[in-house]
Amino acid sequence: MATMITLPRPALILTILFLVIVILPSACRADPDPLQDLCVADLNASISVNGFPCKPLHEVKSNDFFYDGLSKEGNTTNVFGSKVSIGDVLAFPGLNTLGVSWNRVDFAAGTGVNPPHLHPRASETLVVLKGKLLVGFITTTHVLYSKVLKAGEMFVFPRGLVHFQLNVGKGKAFFLAAFNSQNPGVVILPTTLFVTTPSIPNEVLSKAFQIDAKVISDIRSKLGS
Ligand code: GLV
Ligand code: MN
Repeated sequence: MATMITLPRPALILTILFLVIVILPSACRADPDPLQDLCVADLNASISVNGFPCKPLHEVKSNDFFYDGLSKEGNTTNVFGSKVSIGDVLAFPGLNTLGVSWNRVDFAAGTGVNPPHLHPRASETLVVLKGKLLVGFITTTHVLYSKVLKAGEMFVFPRGLVHFQLNVGKGKAFFLAAFNSQNPGVVILPTTLFVTTPSIPNEVLSKAFQIDAKVISDIRSKLGS
């Protein structure tokens, strides 16, 4: 029979305070706070830490805090008709320890889609700068929240939830997205499931999606595997 442990009242209050002050905030935070003004990532460092070690201060230049990788339209000639240009710490080492990053996503005219994906380490806000996009995310209880956005309008995708964007306007479209992590990471569902090395066994995908091996190999070949 299970025994119930009863804590004395002061110990109970201390336990609750500990949970509220220490555990809950750390569960809601994105990246940890920086401990110095700046820490430009040394991407070639031989040690590995949670993030990147800092480049020596005497080597830091203004250009370390500049990035123009989101200034140009991405090439959308691919199966999805979209291109994600990434501005995370790996592309822009000046972001190291700062807990923020950006992407730009371009969509081909007509049916460009940024397929369902999620970011394990960040929430995402986006602002549409051109065109008209249907955007949405799905909760863990299978509820879809979605909206059609036009230039100047914003949407937010909570951390870890599957989301997508589809061009529903007449011409091209693009948006900028901000993340509360220097390294949000991304799990793109179609490629994660169908283009792995080695492949996920057909039996798993057949049963999961109720499709046969022919459909699986069609999807794989269309996604470039
Ligand atoms: C858009 O959702 C992106 O992750 O860049
Ligand atoms: Mn995203």
